[in-house]
Amino acid sequence: MFKYLIISLSICTLSFANEPISPIPKTVKYDHAKALLGKKLFYDTLLSKDHTVACVFCHDLSNGGADARKVSIGVEGRLGNIQAPTVYNARYNFKQFWNGRAADLKEQAKGPIENPNEHDMNPKLIEQRLNNSQPYKKLFYQVYSTKKIKFDEVLDAITAFEMALITPDAKFDRYLRGETSLSSDEQAGYRLFKQYGCITCHNGINIGSNSFQKMGTFIPYDANTSYPDRGYLLKNRNYHNVFKVPTLRNIALTAPYFHDASAQTLLEAVEKMSHYNLGIEIAPDNAKKIVSFLKTLTGNKPIIVETP
Ligand code: HEC
Ligand code: HEC
Repeated sequence: MFKYLIISLSICTLSFANEPISPIPKTVKYDHAKALLGKKLFYDTLLSKDHTVACVFCHDLSNGGADARKVSIGVEGRLGNIQAPTVYNARYNFKQFWNGRAADLKEQAKGPIENPNEHDMNPKLIEQRLNNSQPYKKLFYQVYSTKKIKFDEVLDAITAFEMALITPDAKFDRYLRGETSLSSDEQAGYRLFKQYGCITCHNGINIGSNSFQKMGTFIPYDANTSYPDRGYLLKNRNYHNVFKVPTLRNIALTAPYFHDASAQTLLEAVEKMSHYNLGIEIAPDNAKKIVSFLKTLTGNKPIIVETP
């Protein structure tokens, strides 16, 4: 551990060492063969009952990895009850889903596949379909040395793909590394973000996604959906409206905002957060500066998405 620290100190300046937000590494290790197979599955409607839905339909990788619709639409046009979050940088989430009911990506991936409002599929039928496909049989054989494809390998490959979905080199990360500077508005926005206390909930590598917090810490919030919050899962009213704090990475690309999609613009989201979660009525100028800062959190698309 100590040795590792010394090595990393010597190869970078660690200009971000004292900051509450840390940059995404420029590259991460993942299993390329598995990830490429996972990518194919992520885009494939074969994983849905009537062949009409794929993961990518609700997690638009060409634009922020989330869904621009208020709620997602699954097979047979069925509506969900919650806004789809981004899959970008999901590897850094401490739990998956708004209410954190999945411990990790592999457990998460079962969710949409079996959800009647999303893929509406079951593991047996997926195994059957894939085992009837010569191209998939060949690919799974190359990656897993298996003659009979199992559902667990499907989840494993999708997870490997998601592990590759990082968005490095956001302007803010380059600033943290000392590679660029922020404009005066961006700089002021970051200062306000820390001064007001946004940072107490949105911090770390994902600028969120590392704790459960209440929507409406200061002013009670009336959610506009029947989605089960932490309070419902834990059967404890004290956790009413408690959710996983969402990541703010690529936030400029993932409107609408909040689990119930009740904010249409980033400015509106910042104003509502200030009101409900900090009990302050933020001056429009200051809200705009925070938005300027939030726009520096847009990173580059991962290599695996950019290359065919
Ligand atoms: C019909 C739309 C839809 C489809 C198809 C879909 N998702 Fe999702 N996804 C959602 C919604 C909505 C949520 C939020 C659900 C929740 O939090 O309870 C979500 C949540 C997630 C999350 C958790 C992110 C976080 O921050 O907690 C991941 C990861 C994810 N989906 C991956 C996938 C994968 C992999 C597939 C394909 C197997 C898939 N999704 C298919 C709509 C969809
Ligand atoms: C007490 C913890 C807490 C504080 C303080 C806080 N947030 Fe949040 N933030 C959350 C939670 C929880 C959510 C999810 C709420 C929901 O969806 O209902 C959220 C959601 C957001 C979203 C929408 C993200 C998305 O993907 O929909 C933005 C933008 C945001 N916060 C910015 C800020 C800003 C800017 C501040 C400071 C003015 C701030 N937050 C202060 C906990 C907090």
